[in-house]
Amino acid sequence: MVLYFSATGNTEYVAGKIAKMTGDEALDLLKRIKEKDYSPIYSEKPFVICSPIYVCEMPRFFAAFLRKLVLKGNRKVYFITTSGGYAGVGGNVAKRIAKKKHMIFMGHKDIKMPPNYPVSKRYKLLSPKETLERLRAGAKEIPAVAAHIKRGEHIRDRYVLLLEKVIIRPFNPLWVRVKQPTKLFSATDDCIGCGKCVARCPLNRITMVDKRPKWEGNCAHCMSCIANCPVEAIEYAHVKKGVEKYRIGKYLKKK
Ligand SMILES: Cc1cc2nc3c(=O)[nH]c(=O)nc-3n(C[C@H](O)[C@H](O)[C@H](O)COP(=O)(O)O)c2cc1C
Repeated sequence: MVLYFSATGNTEYVAGKIAKMTGDEALDLLKRIKEKDYSPIYSEKPFVICSPIYVCEMPRFFAAFLRKLVLKGNRKVYFITTSGGYAGVGGNVAKRIAKKKHMIFMGHKDIKMPPNYPVSKRYKLLSPKETLERLRAGAKEIPAVAAHIKRGEHIRDRYVLLLEKVIIRPFNPLWVRVKQPTKLFSATDDCIGCGKCVARCPLNRITMVDKRPKWEGNCAHCMSCIANCPVEAIEYAHVKKGVEKYRIGKYLKKK
């Protein structure tokens, strides 16, 4: 069983391909994450857990959810992450989750996909041409990973250095607290009150007030609300209408 969380589609794409290539099924965990539903999921085949990378590790809310989620049946688990190129301690976090769940860690592999974080001035989006190239390159990596999983072999990513663990573990929560408030999100007059942003927010930080989304507290900055708004009515500080917001669907047809 291939389990995944995805905000802008990269991880969903990779998870779907792996499921297809290994003859397995893919399950989107969004609804379960939102509802804190940890009830058992059964799989005869090894589990494959797919996640994006946020601030050099797996999203903390997703890692916390996975620790509590009950997985029954096969005891082997693979972890696949998608990132803009640096997965940081993602592989190490994955290994620890497997250990906590008393499962057999079959390895981690990060697949470099287009970056999706327009809000960050540091990690800029790529140009449309570069995005397509990145998508094609990422897609090329999937068959080899799927083949290893199908054959039941271990997979291996690069070694996570102790220095990375020492720096990233405390840095990540600090960054999230200081740099990821929701107060800069807003909806413009184009908003049609469809509630898609509410439905897609994994942390339930958005509510509808007078048919307009209202954000509260801190979030994971996953970009699901801003990237998937059907009328591009969501803004964040400098990311106004007309500023590119990445979601894979815009590029898949061109691929
Ligand atoms: C809040 C946030 C933080 C991110 N941090 C990193 C990072 O540390 N390293 C990296 O290579 N990519 C980073 N990215 C890029 C995503 O990991 C990458 O685009 C991923 O494929 C998105 O997956 P999705 O489309 O399934 O949501 C970040 C994206 C977001 C939204």
